Amino acid sequence: MNGKFFSKKEASISVFDRGFLFSDSVYEVTAVIGGSLVDWQEHFARLIRSLDHLDLVNNFQEEDFYQIQKKLIKENELKEGLCYVQVTRGVAERDFNFAKSSSLPTVVIFTQEKLILSNPACKVGIKIITVPDNRWRRRDIKTTQLLAQSLAKTHAVKKGVDDSLLVQDGFINEGSSSNAFIIKDECIVTPCLSNDILGGITRSAVIKFCKKNNLEIKEQKINVNDLINAQEVFLTSATGFVLPVIEVDGRRVGNGLIGDRVREIQKIYLEQIKLKLS
Ligand code: PDD
Repeated sequence: MNGKFFSKKEASISVFDRGFLFSDSVYEVTAVIGGSLVDWQEHFARLIRSLDHLDLVNNFQEEDFYQIQKKLIKENELKEGLCYVQVTRGVAERDFNFAKSSSLPTVVIFTQEKLILSNPACKVGIKIITVPDNRWRRRDIKTTQLLAQSLAKTHAVKKGVDDSLLVQDGFINEGSSSNAFIIKDECIVTPCLSNDILGGITRSAVIKFCKKNNLEIKEQKINVNDLINAQEVFLTSATGFVLPVIEVDGRRVGNGLIGDRVREIQKIYLEQIKLKLS
């Protein structure tokens, strides 16, 4: 925290931290496999973009952040899981106008163990439901305002499925914490980048790897009908990688089993990221 290392019990922040009072903060989640970070540079670049968009002043150096994360992974003996980074606007008197305060940002980094490579969901697939997207309109900024996503995920689990897909005006945006892809007429399709979705690091890696392997891929709007009639569906995220979807709103996707194309994309993604771990 703020450049110092604390045990889980010792680490604490002020109740006046704007991250706590206003969700005035941004974050990144980077996967760790075999003790190495996946797509670290891309995550750091997005962190800086999020900070810039919120006018959250920073002079963070990539190398410093990288070294701290590597040290934390080593100290915590983390082999597989994630490294979480959060930067808030810092501690100030509670005021909607943040321009008045000149607080220093609060930086918190921690690790969490999580099954990533051996996540059973990657082998059996997940079931999802569609729900309205109730978030604010700047979903391209990775802020910690995650209440709508958290409600959507919990709602899905209460309904006996794994996750929710957020829908707006009949078109799908993304998962509660992932980007969405469908396969339609043999072509891989994912919603185009806009303020409506987060520009996922895994999403862009998958697009790049598909192009490199001559798999046809398009970025365009997907309506709910296309989703329901898709041959295959999958979600991507830093901690889920390429997650096959086998059921949407109670209907089987394809024959209800993980499709060949998704398996191929899972294989390509794993092969490619292993080449650039850091
Ligand atoms: N969430 N869309 C949303 C709303 C997300 O929260 C995430 C990631 C993604 C996928 O982005 P990426 O591929 O860069 O992880 C898309 C992370 C994993 C989380 O909040 O834990």
